[in-house]
Amino acid sequence: MIKKLFRRKPVDLIITESLETEGGLKRSLSLWHLTALGIGAIIGTGIFVLTGTAAANYAGPALTISFIISAFGCAMAGLCYAEFASMLPVAGSAYAYSYSTLGEFIAWFIGWNLVLEYLFAAGTVSVGWSGYVASLFDGIGMHIPTALTVAPFMHVGGHWALSGSIVNLPAVFIVAVVAAMLMRGTRQSAGVNNVIVFIKIMVIVLFIAFGISYINTQNWVPYIPQNTGSFGHFGWSGILRGAGVIFFAYIGFDAVSTVAQEAKNPQRDMPRAIMMSLVICTVLYVLVTAVATGIVHYSKLDVSAPIALAIDTAGIKWLSPLIKLGAIAGLTTVVLVMSMGQARIFFAMSKDGLLPKFFSKVNEHKAPANSTLITGVAAALIAGLLPINVLGELVSIGTLAAFVIVCISVLVLRKTHPGINRPFKTPMVPLVPVLGAIVCAAQMLALPVDTWIRLVVWTIIGFIIYFAYSRKHSKLHVAESK
Ligand code: ALA
Repeated sequence: MIKKLFRRKPVDLIITESLETEGGLKRSLSLWHLTALGIGAIIGTGIFVLTGTAAANYAGPALTISFIISAFGCAMAGLCYAEFASMLPVAGSAYAYSYSTLGEFIAWFIGWNLVLEYLFAAGTVSVGWSGYVASLFDGIGMHIPTALTVAPFMHVGGHWALSGSIVNLPAVFIVAVVAAMLMRGTRQSAGVNNVIVFIKIMVIVLFIAFGISYINTQNWVPYIPQNTGSFGHFGWSGILRGAGVIFFAYIGFDAVSTVAQEAKNPQRDMPRAIMMSLVICTVLYVLVTAVATGIVHYSKLDVSAPIALAIDTAGIKWLSPLIKLGAIAGLTTVVLVMSMGQARIFFAMSKDGLLPKFFSKVNEHKAPANSTLITGVAAALIAGLLPINVLGELVSIGTLAAFVIVCISVLVLRKTHPGINRPFKTPMVPLVPVLGAIVCAAQMLALPVDTWIRLVVWTIIGFIIYFAYSRKHSKLHVAESK
């Protein structure tokens, strides 16, 4: 029984499957596509929406330090991801890697956490998208009724309540549009992604370039506001909690690895794309945070469009609608990449028999149509009904858990499969994986207890599905029983 839980998918089998592109996915993505995909997934609600909240409630101007701590954890985990991604260029990301290293049960656990990451992130970012759309419409004098732009359920002061609203309609709308695009195939979607990534970076660069001369350095004093007496509210514990919350802003670089099966040259390009997108985003985040907290006092940044607020405060009015439009475009690509990654995780798990075959059917555009559809429906429900704060923290904790395991997996696989060809090797092993695991675990610990409880509930649901269905239908199980 125990042994079966830890049965491993042979690494050779994974590589053969990927070379055969057995699933019928097309190899069409170049290094530029992959990096754009990474940036497209990374820059989103984290920087456009959550920065203000985290600065105002947890870290103040020192949120820049939170960003650096978080980036450090991501870079370490990213180097571990890159080793896996270059070694096992298959769909399914950390899920596939852990299947060959830590066994089926842990792989299921990771896969289930990745569902938490991608599916819920698609929902979270759609909510951010909806906020910017509502604000843009407001700016041109067309008010969308709040009953249609806010979730009916809200979570304040540790309690659930009804907001009196009906549904977050724009959020549902964007999820549906993205699902329809993805059903038409990766290539077209990646093309759209490239254009929008460019717009997104331009908007952020404009914000930094124009905002920098309006910084009032008095707003940075004190740089690390004194702790209020409770853990996580300013001071160094606030910086750490800020890192856990703002970690959301980095989520997505691993999305690059979920499309490995569609990369033209996965062994060379995957690690490069992951690291390049991570470095570019970190530089932009730290600068944006420094400029925003320099223009507006951090205590006033807890609003739905903090970046636009900073520009308005500086008095650069013409830039405000551009920032909002850029944010809307930018958030769209994040929803796109998250939905795409999610569909591919379902696809990979279904190929292994852990989910029904239904999930791995591809359509005439070679897109995993059923997985995409289910992802779309689930993300629409999440985005339409739930509030952004609950969703964002849940996504962060689930992803951090997956990262910790990826870091450990690198160490395990080096021991169990020392001879495998590793086109990209994580440097300074064991230091890098160990630091990655520690920094990510520390960020998890800094998140509120409520979020931990939700993670546990999610995990229990996953275990029920595993024992009721996946364990018996797993291809490895079926092969063993013959
Ligand atoms: N990193 C992505 C964002 O900030 C998920 O929206």
